[in-house]
Amino acid sequence: MVDGTTQQARPARIRLGMVGGGRDAFIGGVHRMASRLDDHYELVAGAFSSTPEKSLASAVDLGVSAERAYASFSDMAEREAAREDGIEAVSIVTPNHLHYPVACAFLERGIHVICDKPMTASLADAKSLVEKVSASKALFVLTHNYTAYPMIRQAREMITQGLLGDIRVIQAEYAQDWLATKLEDSGQKQAGWRTDPERSGMGGCIGDIGTHAFNLAGFVSGLELESLCADIQSFVPGRKLDDNANVLLRYRGGARGVLWSSQVATGNENALRLRIYGSQAGIEWSQEDPNYLWFTELGKPRQLITRGGSGASEAAAGHTRIPAGHPEGYLEGFASLYADAAEAIYAARDARTPPSGCLYPTVHDGLAGVAFVAAVVGSSQEGGVWKSLDIPSGNG
Ligand SMILES: NC(=O)c1ccc[n+]([C@@H]2O[C@H](COP(=O)([O-])OP(=O)(O)OC[C@H]3O[C@@H](n4cnc5c(N)ncnc54)[C@H](O)[C@@H]3O)[C@@H](O)[C@H]2O)c1
Repeated sequence: MVDGTTQQARPARIRLGMVGGGRDAFIGGVHRMASRLDDHYELVAGAFSSTPEKSLASAVDLGVSAERAYASFSDMAEREAAREDGIEAVSIVTPNHLHYPVACAFLERGIHVICDKPMTASLADAKSLVEKVSASKALFVLTHNYTAYPMIRQAREMITQGLLGDIRVIQAEYAQDWLATKLEDSGQKQAGWRTDPERSGMGGCIGDIGTHAFNLAGFVSGLELESLCADIQSFVPGRKLDDNANVLLRYRGGARGVLWSSQVATGNENALRLRIYGSQAGIEWSQEDPNYLWFTELGKPRQLITRGGSGASEAAAGHTRIPAGHPEGYLEGFASLYADAAEAIYAARDARTPPSGCLYPTVHDGLAGVAFVAAVVGSSQEGGVWKSLDIPSGNG
C-alpha cells in the first residue's frame, strides 16, 4: 500500500507567459519545448506577435485561452499582474530591441523574466536593466542556452578544480553561413530584423552569435575579459551590420584568446566551438557533437569523455536525461536552463535559497555580453584599437 502522507508533493507548475514566439517565429517554439521537457511550466498567456490577430491565432494553435492572448506586452503585464492566477514568469523571445521594454514591464510587477540574448540592443539599456533587476523582487534569467550542456558543465568544473593548470589560450568560434547572401531582401523575417540596426542593435553577427561564444568562453574558463581588439566586416554589399568578426582577447591573469564569429562562412551550420588550453591540459568541445569532450593532459594520450559514460562528472550527470549513446543536444540543453530557472523560481516562492548546482546566466552576464558587442564595434570603427568593456570589473 502506498502511504500518500509520506510522499512529498511536487511543486505546482510555474504559470508561464510568452512575449513573441508567434506563428512563423523561430526561438519561441524552442523555449516552449524546453519549458515542457521536465514538466516545470505551463504556458497560460501570451502577446505572441506584433499584430493582435496573429497573437490570437498563435494562442489558438498553442491551446492558450483567447482571454489571455494579448494585443500588446504592456496590456499583458498589467492584466496578468492583476489576476489571482496570473503568470509567475514570462519568456521574452522577440527581436532584440524589445527585450528591454518588455523585461521592464514584467520586472516592475514582480514577474520573473526569462529573456533571450543579446540582453538588450544598447549598452545604456543593459546598464539600466541591471538596476531594474536589483530593484525588483523578480529573477532575471538570460538564455545563453549553451551553458547548460552537460559536457560544458563538466568542462567548467574541470577548470574550477584546476585540472588544466593556468589557462593560457582560449579559442572560441561560432560560424554559420545562412547570411552569405542578402537574404534580408527576400523578406525572410529572421534575416530582416537581424540585419536592421533599429531592431538588432549595434551588432549584427557579433551580437547574434558572437555573444554566445563570448559568454561560453567566460562561463567555462571562469576568466574575466580585460580588453579586446576587433576587426569586423559586412561582406554582403549593402548590409548595414557586421556579418563577420575577428576579435583578439586579453583576459585578466594573462590568458590570451581569439573569437571568430561569422554568418558568411560557407559550409557551416551552427559551428560553435570552444578550445581552452592550460599549463597542464587542454579541452575541446563542439556544439555540433555536444555529447563529447576531448581532454588531453600534457604528455598523455587524448581522452574522450562522454556525456553518459564512466568519466562523466556529477555536474554533467545532473543535466542528462537518457543513457549514454542516445544523443542529447540543443533542446535538452535549453531545457536544462529552464529546469535550473524553475528551481530558482520554486525557491523564490518559498523564500528559500536555491539548491546548489542551480546555475543560470544573469543580468550581469547580459551586461557583459552587450558591453562586449559595444567594445567590438567601437574597436573596429577606430581601426582596431584595444578596448576594455565599459562596465565595472567583476562583470566581464
Ligand atoms: N538562444 C538561442 O540559441 C537563440 C536562437 C535564436 C534566436 N535567439 C534570440 O531570440 C530572439 C528572437 O529570435 P527569433 O529568431 O525567434 O526571431 P523571430 O523573428 O523568428 O521571432 C520574433 C517574434 O517576436 C514577435 N514580435 C515582434 N514584435 C513584437 C511585439 N511588439 N510584441 C510581441 N511579439 C512581437 C514576432 O511576431 C515573432 O513572433 C532574438 O533576441 C534572438 O537573438 C536566441
